[in-house]
Amino acid sequence: MTETKRIIVALDFATETRAIALVERLDPARCRLKVGKELFTRSGPAFVEALQDRGFEVFLDLKFHDIPNTVAGACAAAADLGVWMVNLHVSGGPRMIEAARMRLDRMSSRPLLIGVTVLTSLSRDDLSAVGCPGEPSERVLALAALGHAAGLDGVVCSPLEAAAVRAAEGPGFRLVTPGVRPAGAALDDQVRVMTPREALAAGADDLVIGRPITAADDPSAALRSIEDSLMS
Ligand code: C5P
Repeated sequence: MTETKRIIVALDFATETRAIALVERLDPARCRLKVGKELFTRSGPAFVEALQDRGFEVFLDLKFHDIPNTVAGACAAAADLGVWMVNLHVSGGPRMIEAARMRLDRMSSRPLLIGVTVLTSLSRDDLSAVGCPGEPSERVLALAALGHAAGLDGVVCSPLEAAAVRAAEGPGFRLVTPGVRPAGAALDDQVRVMTPREALAAGADDLVIGRPITAADDPSAALRSIEDSLMS
């Protein structure tokens, strides 16, 4: 993959107005945008269409998790909306993933189908409490393998897990990594981070970056500086 457009800017805003104020300062040739549950629940498909009309490719981060028929239908709706990437929870199981992939394969063009393995907010104890004992990192690898076999194009993972997932799943399986911070940037509420360059070296394909760009005085310059750090 080339070094261009590796960055997905997370639009973590409560209102469309604030999101658009940021988007107006970004160039669709240089980044993609992630729309999550908050903004989508407030502003809906029309907002996604408005971003696409401006030339941006959109990662619709709604993390679907339901019975196979329902998730397949939701993925088809995302494809109709024209998004570039959509995701679901791998823990919904192989039949759910296969149903989503089969439905997308029947469409004339489809988004990349990406899986969430283990939410990084879940500790070992949290996993145990919901009946999944063991190390979260082992579960990430097991779910990535299950998702790959069931037809996912890739998974979302921490950059700290990227090298292990890449080694296990091989090239061509897309790794989308949040938890990325430019050297010297504020960590905000992220704890275990890598720099953009380190994340790519570990095997990441797409870097999800929010506040280092969205909270910068000059978001375009912040994006450029991250791009420069990838080239150097
Ligand atoms: O502002 P920041 O760069 O921390 O934003 C990262 C984005 O990636 C947010 O939208 C956050 O919800 C998302 N994310 C994350 N860690 C995960 C999965 C998603 O930070 N494990």
